[in-house]
Amino acid sequence: MLAGRRILLIISGSVAAFKALELTRLLRRDGAAVTAILTAAGARFVTREALAAITGSRVHDDLWAAEAEIGHIRLARLPELVVVAPASADILAKMAHGLADDLASTVLLATRAPILVAPAMNPAMWEHPATQANMSALRMRGVRVVGPNEGAMAEPESGPGRLAEPAEIQAMVHALLAEEAPLAGRHAIVTSGPTHEPIDPVRYIANRSSGKQGHAIAAALHALGARVTLVSGPVALPDPPGVTVRHVETAREMLAACEAALPADIAVMAAAVADWRVAREATQKLKKEAGAAPPALSMALNPDILASIAAHPVQRPALVVGFAAETEKVVEHATAKRIRKGCDWIVANDVSGDVMGGDANRVQLITEDGVEDWPRMPKEEVARHLALRIATRFAP
Ligand code: C5P
Repeated sequence: MLAGRRILLIISGSVAAFKALELTRLLRRDGAAVTAILTAAGARFVTREALAAITGSRVHDDLWAAEAEIGHIRLARLPELVVVAPASADILAKMAHGLADDLASTVLLATRAPILVAPAMNPAMWEHPATQANMSALRMRGVRVVGPNEGAMAEPESGPGRLAEPAEIQAMVHALLAEEAPLAGRHAIVTSGPTHEPIDPVRYIANRSSGKQGHAIAAALHALGARVTLVSGPVALPDPPGVTVRHVETAREMLAACEAALPADIAVMAAAVADWRVAREATQKLKKEAGAAPPALSMALNPDILASIAAHPVQRPALVVGFAAETEKVVEHATAKRIRKGCDWIVANDVSGDVMGGDANRVQLITEDGVEDWPRMPKEEVARHLALRIATRFAP
């Protein structure tokens, strides 16, 4: 089943383009949401009306119109898989060389989603060294290929060039999405960034957390197919594409946003939540009166989001992961914290160096089975490792 999976289908010019309608029907029957882009040549073989009817949504065919309405970058970011079927010799050449002169080629250049191509063309064009060189370049870049098959073609010529059957392409889509998305169907809540605790309407207490690690974890879980809700304190980072982001300021808002996002299978609490807030936030800006003593701030304890979610009476996620930023006795303190907070795993890191705000991290993962020492690596890599480790935990 492909329930809710987002597929972008690009139809280029070939007499086999009518088979794209059957492919769309099969994918939609499996539950996938299919968006279509029709190239100018593709529009000579299928009508945008037929395609709109069968996809159940608007067909995109104009780079500039798309710019005004949905935007080619959004079109490129939305799908979990891009399928080019049929893929003409021309569009394969554009892909191999990075050309971007219409909507389809621009989206193909801008997308980070995996790409599946189903070539269809005259056998002489398929066998031409130029096409074969383009295919090698595309394969080397990770583009996946289905077909072409040998068999009867529109022209009185035989040889490879016939578009793969819709059922074959459908099977390949299933295989690719399963391979790419071990966390499909899972919901993950990730907290990230600092919290801001107000003193008065213009001043607040904060910390040096950049949100880089938490945001990278949200993106990595999404890349493995999870539905992700990122609850972020104030950061200078863009929202990761494809992730639902709830922007909050204070610890209490962060807890409320996490609770509102439940139920979830996974919770990764990477935010640097302020332990205390100012007990009574001033409603007006505190004034600096000449000769008066500086104001004394009385503090109150913030809720512990990790501990609250880990102890949730009815909606505790199956896997709760905390972070422990320590400056000494890292493993010892983190191990104790795992028990105290009631989480399943804890990612311990030594923040005595340049970790906070920096791009690299060296961590230990503490699980129910012991301590894993990971080498120093970029925060994106830590995120990818953690996401893969989580995927293993949820493997059937
Ligand atoms: O106790 P400490 O702040 O070192 O614990 C760190 C872990 O607890 C992190 O996962 C952090 O996101 C989480 N935490 C929380 N709410 C707090 C304090 C910490 O969720 N109020």
